Amino acid sequence: MARNLSRRNLLRQAGAAVGGLAASDLLAACALPAPPDAAATRASVGAAAPRHADVSSTRAPLLAFPQGFRWGVATSAYQIEGAVRADGRGASIWDRFSHTPGKTKYGATGDVACDHYHRWADDLDLMQRLGVPSYRFSIAWPRVLPNGLGQVNQKGLDFYRRLAEGLLQRNIRPMATLYHWDLPQTLQDRGGWPARDTAQRFASYAEVVFRALGDVVPDWITLNEPWVVANVGYRWGGHAPGVTDAMAAARARQHLLLAHGLAVQSFRATRPARGQIGITLNLSPVYPATATVEDRMAALLTDGFLNRAYLDPVLRGSDPTDVQVSGESTNSAYDRIPAADLPTIHAPIDFLGVNYYAPSYVTGPLTAIRTLSGHHATTAMGWEIVPSGLYDLLVRITHDYGRVPLYVTENGAAFGDRVGRDGQIDDGERVRFLHDHIAAAHQALQAGVPLHGYYAWALMDNFEWAEGYTKRFGLVYVDYATQRRIAKRSALWYRDVIRYNGVSA
Ligand code: FCB
Repeated sequence: MARNLSRRNLLRQAGAAVGGLAASDLLAACALPAPPDAAATRASVGAAAPRHADVSSTRAPLLAFPQGFRWGVATSAYQIEGAVRADGRGASIWDRFSHTPGKTKYGATGDVACDHYHRWADDLDLMQRLGVPSYRFSIAWPRVLPNGLGQVNQKGLDFYRRLAEGLLQRNIRPMATLYHWDLPQTLQDRGGWPARDTAQRFASYAEVVFRALGDVVPDWITLNEPWVVANVGYRWGGHAPGVTDAMAAARARQHLLLAHGLAVQSFRATRPARGQIGITLNLSPVYPATATVEDRMAALLTDGFLNRAYLDPVLRGSDPTDVQVSGESTNSAYDRIPAADLPTIHAPIDFLGVNYYAPSYVTGPLTAIRTLSGHHATTAMGWEIVPSGLYDLLVRITHDYGRVPLYVTENGAAFGDRVGRDGQIDDGERVRFLHDHIAAAHQALQAGVPLHGYYAWALMDNFEWAEGYTKRFGLVYVDYATQRRIAKRSALWYRDVIRYNGVSA
């Protein structure tokens, strides 16, 4: 998701909150010690919020998903694991960045986060009680190779084997991301993503992991959101490693994409017993703020920068020439992917992961400025809520890039969740957000998009990067003082979506 949009206070959606909900009925099993009674959940949800939540009501028409459609939840290593010094883990750029004063809200770090490294079994039990069929998590490179290269840390691999086996035992399908932003600090010291060698180091790390876990992890994602890594990490500096250098960002894009292609090649060469591999991109439909020629031109350029600069190399083996960054042109020689690397980057993938949070509105004429439309409510992140953007995006990818199988690998929202006096979290806005986006995904399926699954971000509240712990995206609430997990209303709603394989029409 675009992170250079200004943060805005949450605009409450009129009528979105579900007042008077009998939350005590709904979440009788606070923190899910046992599966809540299905009938009670149905009754209370259905009665309180017919439009968005009565998935299970016999009277409600269902937007049914195809059999085998994969529902899941997602997290990433640095955002939940904590235990940053346990069992030989090396430092990552996020350890360094978050410990640098002024970089994250209130100086938050991932040192403890959700303590998932120690509580993983309970977290898996919770997922099982929610009936979640698949879990997308990420593997921390510095746990596996504390220095980024060289000596393998067996204890790090052991943790992910326990996790993957624990998932399989609970009938939950593991989907592992190899890189969700936690570059080993030693590799940053050697130049980070702007250094070409990092791509090679990534492929070596990927090979170690494929060999160690290829028998227990069926689905692999090379990179999470290379656009964010290159631009927020190296161009604007709002994320680790906090570099502000347009040329470094341009090089980072090239080497991230090369790293992806090399890892796909290594996956094919390693041939794990089973499995498929893809990449996850943060994609955003780009709309002109007005119908003027200037704004339309600006939207085209921004679409190149945000979307086509990643989609084209991976899915077409080409690099778009009309790419422009808000406020500065990067359509210059240093920004081009070397032609010799394009076939590697274009290595066939089994699926494309799509992370969708919000669209982009753009205005011209000289430089494309990203803005808000002003016509939509926003989440606590200041991101506009536009479910139809997901439909537009999925249809467009299929139209422009062919029938590559798609998964929504992240979609969700932060809201100002509060624990009520009854100890429950009645997050009606999140239920509505998820409902409307899942309905948009259904519409895309109807239009012929080969969408195979949907992963909600996130399983639980976590360290939201530079925002620290101030933004809660979870279906499950985390009380950071006690590490207690409390299923929000949205978690139980999502459980019904999974159970009935659809949402109310
Ligand atoms: C995405 C990231 C994920 C999380 C969500 C809110 O860009 O992949 O880690 O921070 O945004």
